[in-house]
Amino acid sequence: MVQSGVVCRCCDTCSFHNFNCALHIPETGNLYVNNDIFILFFTSLISLIFFSWNRKLEEEVHKKTEQLENSNQRLQKLNRVKNEFLSMVSHELKTPLTAMRTSSEFLREEDCDKETQEEMLDLIIRNIDRQSRMVDDLLDISRIESGRMVFKKEKINLKETIDNAIQMMEPMATKHGIAIEREVDNNPQVKADKDKLLRVFVNLLNNAIKFTADKGKNIKIKTEDTRDFVEISVIDRGIGIPENEQEKIFEKFYQVDSTSRRKVGGSGLGLAIIKGIIEGQGGSIRVKSEPGVGSIFTFTLRKWEE
Ligand SMILES: Nc1ncnc2c1ncn2[C@@H]1O[C@H](COP(=O)(O)OP(=O)(O)OP(=O)(O)O)[C@@H](O)[C@H]1O
Ligand SMILES: [Mg+2]
Repeated sequence: MVQSGVVCRCCDTCSFHNFNCALHIPETGNLYVNNDIFILFFTSLISLIFFSWNRKLEEEVHKKTEQLENSNQRLQKLNRVKNEFLSMVSHELKTPLTAMRTSSEFLREEDCDKETQEEMLDLIIRNIDRQSRMVDDLLDISRIESGRMVFKKEKINLKETIDNAIQMMEPMATKHGIAIEREVDNNPQVKADKDKLLRVFVNLLNNAIKFTADKGKNIKIKTEDTRDFVEISVIDRGIGIPENEQEKIFEKFYQVDSTSRRKVGGSGLGLAIIKGIIEGQGGSIRVKSEPGVGSIFTFTLRKWEE
């Protein structure tokens, strides 16, 4: 409390003379507010403001640095993927070209007999097919990634489509000493794009055959009805996939073993395309696998509603 009759030391005109004014120092009386304390308080306040402002700035800089580091790592990963892609695509396109060139040179030889001619022409046609499949895959993956893949909504008899796919893959399976069985529940009708669904089956069967080393280890396609969907599984007893790789195999160009030790062909696009086709039609795909035991690829398709 300020006593009456107190005079302000710093100004004559102040109207707060006799009040508890923090800006004025009475010469007498009980209350004594020192200029130094006020300056100390004021500078502390300013320092505190600056300090917290500085902390905020530091935090902001730290956050931005982290974001930059993350973007940098992402860019480095993208660059690595791009380089792997270029080397894989060049290899996949070059290999059939080399085979076609060698076969063509054989055909030019004057003493090339009829049988060799047929053989060489077959080889050329097979390699043209391989190359055009690769280009189709690349076009498809680019359509999927840019959301440009168009899906027809057809009423499909699943049993028929599975039979078509088995028919297409039977020659390859037979060559490997493997049979393809099917176990179809209730002959379900599904809503999907027929050609693309066929592609899904062919790609999954191709993998199942390719990654089953032993003869006699048959493959099975099994369907199961759920409420709105049909679940379809392609089951093999092949080499299996380690658990830590099971998510990655759906990424484009990812292969569990992409080294030169690998005996089977492929560009690592098959599963990425399958995933794009299934998800693009409102379904999902998952894998359950154990190395040395086999793999089960299960995907869902929406049922046809009248
Ligand atoms: N049924 C399977 N059993 C074991 N491994 C598999 C199986 N299916 C896929 N994989 C693994 O997942 C990888 C990716 O499969 P994906 O079908 O995408 O590529 P790919 O078969 O190598 O080549 P592409 O399908 O383009 O010809 C394969 O290289 C293989 O390592
Ligand atoms: Mg494949």
